[in-house]
Amino acid sequence: MAEKKSSALFVCLGNICRSPIAEAVFTHYVKEQNLSEKWIIDSAATADYHTGKSPDRRAIKCMKRHDIPMSHKARPIIAEDFKNFDYIFGMDENNIRDLKRLAPKNSTAKIELLGDYDPEGPCIIRDPYYDDGDEGFEEVYQQCKRCCQAFLNKVS
Ligand code: 4NP
Repeated sequence: MAEKKSSALFVCLGNICRSPIAEAVFTHYVKEQNLSEKWIIDSAATADYHTGKSPDRRAIKCMKRHDIPMSHKARPIIAEDFKNFDYIFGMDENNIRDLKRLAPKNSTAKIELLGDYDPEGPCIIRDPYYDDGDEGFEEVYQQCKRCCQAFLNKVS
């Protein structure tokens, strides 16, 4: 019988900045450890402002700088996600509040702050959307890198 896969869904407000970066970074580490067959990985939004859009150009630039592939189209989280994914990670406390509000009664997913896995703290992965430059995106990337490595080490 095929081994049951683990699954992680990364969630932020718009699904064009933080969560596609987190999805790409986690996918990268899973691949690096030859675990791709064992994981289902995706990202989603708590709001549907940007449905169907590619990630923000600054997020694309950041991932190119770090040579990490990213390919995602924004989508809102749906009720089935709360049953289909083992882990649903929010980036900040508003995401967690929205996820808890959107979770149906039969939700089985563990809803957690991704930043809680950061060995260096801080626990909040701040929204860089309204920043002028690239620094906020670099910070998001660095946080996602530390958190995704720590999470993967913990569960595998
Ligand atoms: P994200 O960033 O939640 O990290 O994707 C945002 C993207 C868009 C908006 C807010 C945050 N917005 O208000 O359109």
